[in-house]
Amino acid sequence: MAKKLMITDTILRDAHQSQAATRMRTEDMLPACEILDSIGYYSLECWGGATFDACLRFLNEDPWDRLRKLRKALPNTKLQMLFRGQNILGYKHYADDVVEQFCRKAIENGIDVIRIFDALNDVRNLEAAIKYTKKYGGICEPAISYTISPVHSEDYFVKLAKELVQMGADNICIKDMANLLLPYEAYSLIKRLKSEIDVPIHLHTHNTTGTGDMTYLMAMQAGVDIVDCALSPFANGTSQPATESLVATLKGTEHDTGLDLSKLAEAAKHFRGVAERMMKEGILDPKVLRVDTNTLVYQVPGGMLSNLISQLKEAGREDKYYDVLEEIPIVRKDFGYPPLVTPTSQIVGTQAVFNVLMGRYKTFPQNSKALLAGEYGALPGEVNEEVRRKAIGDKKVITCRPADLIAPELENYEKEVKALGYYEKEEDVLSYALFPKVASKFFEARKEAEEGRSAAPAAKAAPMDANKIYNLYVEDKEL
Ligand code: CO
Repeated sequence: MAKKLMITDTILRDAHQSQAATRMRTEDMLPACEILDSIGYYSLECWGGATFDACLRFLNEDPWDRLRKLRKALPNTKLQMLFRGQNILGYKHYADDVVEQFCRKAIENGIDVIRIFDALNDVRNLEAAIKYTKKYGGICEPAISYTISPVHSEDYFVKLAKELVQMGADNICIKDMANLLLPYEAYSLIKRLKSEIDVPIHLHTHNTTGTGDMTYLMAMQAGVDIVDCALSPFANGTSQPATESLVATLKGTEHDTGLDLSKLAEAAKHFRGVAERMMKEGILDPKVLRVDTNTLVYQVPGGMLSNLISQLKEAGREDKYYDVLEEIPIVRKDFGYPPLVTPTSQIVGTQAVFNVLMGRYKTFPQNSKALLAGEYGALPGEVNEEVRRKAIGDKKVITCRPADLIAPELENYEKEVKALGYYEKEEDVLSYALFPKVASKFFEARKEAEEGRSAAPAAKAAPMDANKIYNLYVEDKEL
């Protein structure tokens, strides 16, 4: 069957998040928008937790303003964002009214496709985001967080996909954030999904381990509908496989993407300049471009490995790196095999560091306790009850949808923002709810600039507290 493969380009989100600490600025993007808009992508991914955070924290940009500018500059292309279920873009569960307001505002300001995932694949954490994406007219793309474990079989993923279709999915995404999905497994999984569900399948992987292009080719043979690629200047390594390579590979075949290589080259030329500048500034380290086989061996996402190194450096215990790597699978098993993606990757990683440095399960960071208490949702596998007792004692484990326990909170956030004198528009309330400290600094700088007290001061990063390893870990990097 002849079927055109569709491509989402991640150049405006995951590509620079994965390679350049999410530091691409709006002004780096706008000059390429006219050509990007003429290419005919399925969508352009341009927004997500880390882009939102980095705008406020490092770039002194209002992420909402960026979205509106991109919307205006890309009138013919669907804009896509990544949404962390009940966490929205933050690191904790929010009440449903905040989820609703965020979906409404994201769509109003220009987002078309919302990819919604939950670190634990607990569909109850996707319910509200799916409902409100649909209510406000967005294309709803729930994602399966792909991982490998004794409980994560092909049957498990197919069952999950069927549930997501029942809940109203327009597309299903397989989100292989850690580049664990190997080519033949991809073939088999996509084949099953295509025969058992009717909505388009959208595959997301990275090329950290050098298997990404092969995975896409095999997925395509199995009938995948859409894949995520990045324009070559920010492609490969920890980012997505290159758009141009796949487009060229399929040229003239029955799966021809129909995208014009010369237009892609023109867009790439612009971003090559951006990448060169970032390389000079030291933001883009060429190390991230090399094939890294550690993930194949340890099944730990690349970003998590670099986080571990910085955590251990902070504690002056870099010599313990391999001990921690060996501890991770133990913690993961005891915690019921959560997929390793924000925030569970940080929680499992930090617990492994604590175990190695202070003795196994002698200390539990707050978030480990919360995870074991069910505050993030149901863990996929069986939890080691002895470990759970050590962490939370006799405290009752939450078994309902976690957000059912959270009272509406939007009004309170709005009151707080107004009391602080930061309120200019409805969106400010959401920025504040998601990143209270970082947004406050941004608003403060905005106020000063408006009052002419100083000329557009850059928002400074909050100083990190070296004793709070966990916070450093969580705030530093989203995987
Ligand atoms: Co990704």
